[in-house]
Amino acid sequence: MGLRVTREERAVLDGLDLEVAAGETLSISGASGCGKSTLLRVLALLEPADAGRVEIDGQDAESIDYRSYRRRVSLVFQEPPMFEGTVADNVRYGPSMAGRTVSDSEVSELLAQVAIDPAIASRDAERLSGGERQRVALARALANRPQLLLLDEPTSALDPESAMEVIAQIRRLSAQGLSVVAVLHVPEHARLLGDRHLHMRDGRLETVEMST
Ligand SMILES: Nc1ncnc2c1ncn2[C@@H]1O[C@H](COP(=O)(O)OP(=O)(O)O)[C@@H](O)[C@H]1O
Ligand SMILES: [Mg+2]
Repeated sequence: MGLRVTREERAVLDGLDLEVAAGETLSISGASGCGKSTLLRVLALLEPADAGRVEIDGQDAESIDYRSYRRRVSLVFQEPPMFEGTVADNVRYGPSMAGRTVSDSEVSELLAQVAIDPAIASRDAERLSGGERQRVALARALANRPQLLLLDEPTSALDPESAMEVIAQIRRLSAQGLSVVAVLHVPEHARLLGDRHLHMRDGRLETVEMST
C-alpha cells in the first residue's frame, strides 16, 4: 500500500503500510499531531493520499462506488457531529441512504449495543452530551453493518464503565468478522480492544508488544 500524505509540505504519513484482516482489531497510539486522524480519514477516503493506494478485498477503493465504500468502511470521529433530528433518525440515516429501513427494535438493539439506554431514541440528537454523541455515532456507524470500522478515540468522552461496555461490544462484533482500526490513548483500552498494537512515529507505524 505505502501511503504517503504531505500537508503543508510536511510528510504526515510517510510510506506507511497497514493491512487489516477480517475480524482483526488494531489499536493505534502516538503523540498528538503525529497523523493518526489523518490516517483514518485517508482510509475512509475523506482525504486523498499523495501516493499509495487504499484497497479493500484486493480491490482499489477508488474503483468502488464511493457511497457503498463509505458503508463498508465506517469512520467514527472523536467529536462526531449529530445530524438534525432524533437519535433514531441518526441511527437510521446510513441504511436509509441505501434503501433499507431500520425497525424500532433494531434501533433499540443498536443503542443497547453501545451501552446507551434505548429510551433516548426519541430525543433530539443535537442536544446530547459528548459521551452520548460518541456512542450514538458508533451505533449510527454499526447500523451500516460495516466491514471495517475506523474509530478515532472512541472512548475519550466516556466514563470508565461505558468505555468497557463499548470495548466489549466491539470485541463481540470482531468475533463475528468485523475489522476494527481504533486510535486509543488509554493504554488499558488499547490492550483490551486490540489484537495488534501499533504506535505511530515519524509518519510510520511500529508494532508494540503489550504485556497482558
Ligand atoms: N488539511 C490539513 N492541512 C494542513 N495540515 C494538516 C491537515 N490535516 C492535518 N494536518 C497536520 O497534520 C498533522 C497530523 O494531524 P492529525 O492526523 O490530526 O494528528 P493526530 O490525530 O495524530 O493528533 C498535524 O500536524 C496537523 O496539523
Ligand atoms: Mg487525532
